[in-house]
Amino acid sequence: MELNNKYILQLDLPPPPKELIKHIYDMEKMLEEMYPNGEPDTEASAVWNENFNKGQRKIIWFQYSTKLTEYTEAQNQIVDDVYSPYFKSKCRGMFALMKNRYPGSVSHTPIHTDRGRNMAINWILETGGDDVTTTFYNKERKSHLTYHKRATNYRIDQVKKEYAACLPKETWMAFNVQKVHSVENISTTRKMFSIIVEDNPNWYEFPTRYSNIIINA
Ligand SMILES: [Fe+2]
Repeated sequence: MELNNKYILQLDLPPPPKELIKHIYDMEKMLEEMYPNGEPDTEASAVWNENFNKGQRKIIWFQYSTKLTEYTEAQNQIVDDVYSPYFKSKCRGMFALMKNRYPGSVSHTPIHTDRGRNMAINWILETGGDDVTTTFYNKERKSHLTYHKRATNYRIDQVKKEYAACLPKETWMAFNVQKVHSVENISTTRKMFSIIVEDNPNWYEFPTRYSNIIINA
């Protein structure tokens, strides 16, 4: 499938080292053992967002690397060794687990712009279902010179859909996470590894800065 480079850039980078992938599965298992009914903070933010959407949207459990689960210094050193030559900046790893909160049905991420990074550089391990789409809407928050301290949430009646794609797994892709977006129709658990580039490039400078690694320019 050819991805529309107005929204998604496909990148030519080495696949994530195996031990960084293993960490994601280990942390998923640990979280499930610690919190069989869902992590309290994660549950609370899902409920908050469902209320924000006036009950019109079912929200996933969104877990990512936090204090408890983040990559060790040694693991982040591996990320830096592998990827900093491409980004000419320090790199570290992050992961995301997007777990369906409605078994037998599907749920979605909030419609949002990201905290922290201006761009996502993602490798999907498992899509989270057969019909999972990444959707972009017609609003955008300004990229941040350092980093956005908070995510912003949007209700479906505040935005219009512009583009949606079923993103493939095991492919490096980058997109603008200050463009309003969501992930729709998660039926299992979507798993992703991300590279966080310390100097936090934005969508508009990325193509000229990293033209050498973009496949679908
Ligand atoms: Fe996001």
